[in-house]
Amino acid sequence: MDPIQHASLTLDPAGMSLQPGQGLAQQIHAQLKDKILHGALAASARLPTTRELALALQVSRNTVVRAYEALISEGFVVGRAGSGCFVAEIAKLSQPAAGKLPSPERGAAAPHTDLWARLQSFEPAPTVGLQARAFRHGLPALDLFPHALWSRLQARFWREQSRSALWHPHPNSQSQSQSQSQSQQRKAVSLSYGEPAGLPRLRELIAAYLSHSRGLQCGADQVIITAGSQQAIAMAALALTQRGDRVGMESPGYRAAAAALGLSGAKVVPVPLDSQGLRTGALQALGRLAMVYTTPSHQYPTGVAMSLQRRLELLDWAEREQAWILEDDYDGEYRFKGVPLAPLATLAAQASGNNRQRTLYIGSFSKLLFPGLRLGYLVAPAAWLPTLAKLRGVLDRQSSTADQVVMADFMAEGHFLRHVRRMRRAALERRDTFLSAWAQDLSPSLPAELRALSLQPIDAGLQAFWPLPSRALEARLVAAAAAVGIELGGLSLVGGLPAHSQEAGLVFGFASVPPAEIRRALKLLVQAWRPLWG
Ligand SMILES: Cc1ncc(COP(=O)(O)O)c(C=O)c1O
Repeated sequence: MDPIQHASLTLDPAGMSLQPGQGLAQQIHAQLKDKILHGALAASARLPTTRELALALQVSRNTVVRAYEALISEGFVVGRAGSGCFVAEIAKLSQPAAGKLPSPERGAAAPHTDLWARLQSFEPAPTVGLQARAFRHGLPALDLFPHALWSRLQARFWREQSRSALWHPHPNSQSQSQSQSQSQQRKAVSLSYGEPAGLPRLRELIAAYLSHSRGLQCGADQVIITAGSQQAIAMAALALTQRGDRVGMESPGYRAAAAALGLSGAKVVPVPLDSQGLRTGALQALGRLAMVYTTPSHQYPTGVAMSLQRRLELLDWAEREQAWILEDDYDGEYRFKGVPLAPLATLAAQASGNNRQRTLYIGSFSKLLFPGLRLGYLVAPAAWLPTLAKLRGVLDRQSSTADQVVMADFMAEGHFLRHVRRMRRAALERRDTFLSAWAQDLSPSLPAELRALSLQPIDAGLQAFWPLPSRALEARLVAAAAAVGIELGGLSLVGGLPAHSQEAGLVFGFASVPPAEIRRALKLLVQAWRPLWG
């Protein structure tokens, strides 16, 4: 290809190559734009005439005209009547230094923020594949989920949507109110943006459920729907703490909560536990804490229930210190023995004084329905709701309208309470199966020193916890189990930030595993571990 001869010409079309079969005008446009952006065509440089370039590239003149027109309309090139087309005065992109061409992996420099660095060291729980496994923890009996019922409710929602989505010219027109049945009006929600705080009907149902099942008297104006407990923890941390604050957290504790608690830049500090739960006596020595995160109904991951004495001490401490308590009641419905202890938020509401305002309560449908639903809630003082709703709106606007409507119908029509009872019965049966298979098969196969380390009592929840003497042993047991397809949650991965705790132990999620599979898996574990005992 000959360079185009012209006194002021700066474009050598030799570097331009056009692929047949693709838009020629687009290719010319893209290549010229690239040269302009990278400085190969300097500002004010004159472009060849359309005739010259068409000749050099062996394309029709119209093709070049189309490419130039696109460059002019985007502002890369200016046309001057009578004198031709010139590169516009624009900033060019800086070139990578010679020898440092960006590779796909190195292309983007890592951001230099504290949050970025913290996220680098956060190890989220592995995502769960399709295949259910013994003894994956954190899952309820997903095999008992009422698929057919749920899909009927979903189908009904969409049917009602298609009827109510008809365009009504005037919202108050008589024909509309007559044509829509009462049930349609009740269910009709817009597919447009909804209230960030959540569907009002669902918030009312949750408030009624909490007062009936957890003794927590609250109104719908205190309930904000969240994307699971995780978002509720993150929102509370963002709204109530800031850089420089310190937030106390049970140790060992829920790793994902620790990550969320640090989102505002607050430092998360460990608070030790004992057999009565969070050691309130240790709080004073930790200095000023803006907030304490706790799972009092059923401590995650050890399973300890916080004693009434400790609950009262914690409320008292929060009142004295003017600190917040974040109560994560993620699996409070699964209690197998005794009367469920009242949530801190309930006690706080009953206690005299102002400390009702100091406890925020978090619940989730993840352990009753399924975690992928991403529906949970945060209960906070009514006066805060408008601001918290703004925060939810800023983060991700709202939860899915369809899921909220179906969840509300599921609750309003009595299915939810029935399902909770069924899930609790199933978890109890699975716990009993686990304990008897452990006593019959696994425990006798252990060396004496490990047999002496009994499982934590399982009076609640979805998992068993077995304390171990060392992290080295924990790692060997987890690896040997994994080799035969059994998943165990090692405390080093499951609980707390790395700096929190050096305790060791194994978490066995039994609730998602049918009884026959629990027995089979424990027998398999006996064989997988036998070589380790020498
Ligand atoms: C302590 C704790 N909180 C909350 C959750 C549930 O989180 P989400 O509601 O975000 O699914 C879990 C799940 O494992 C948990 O262990």
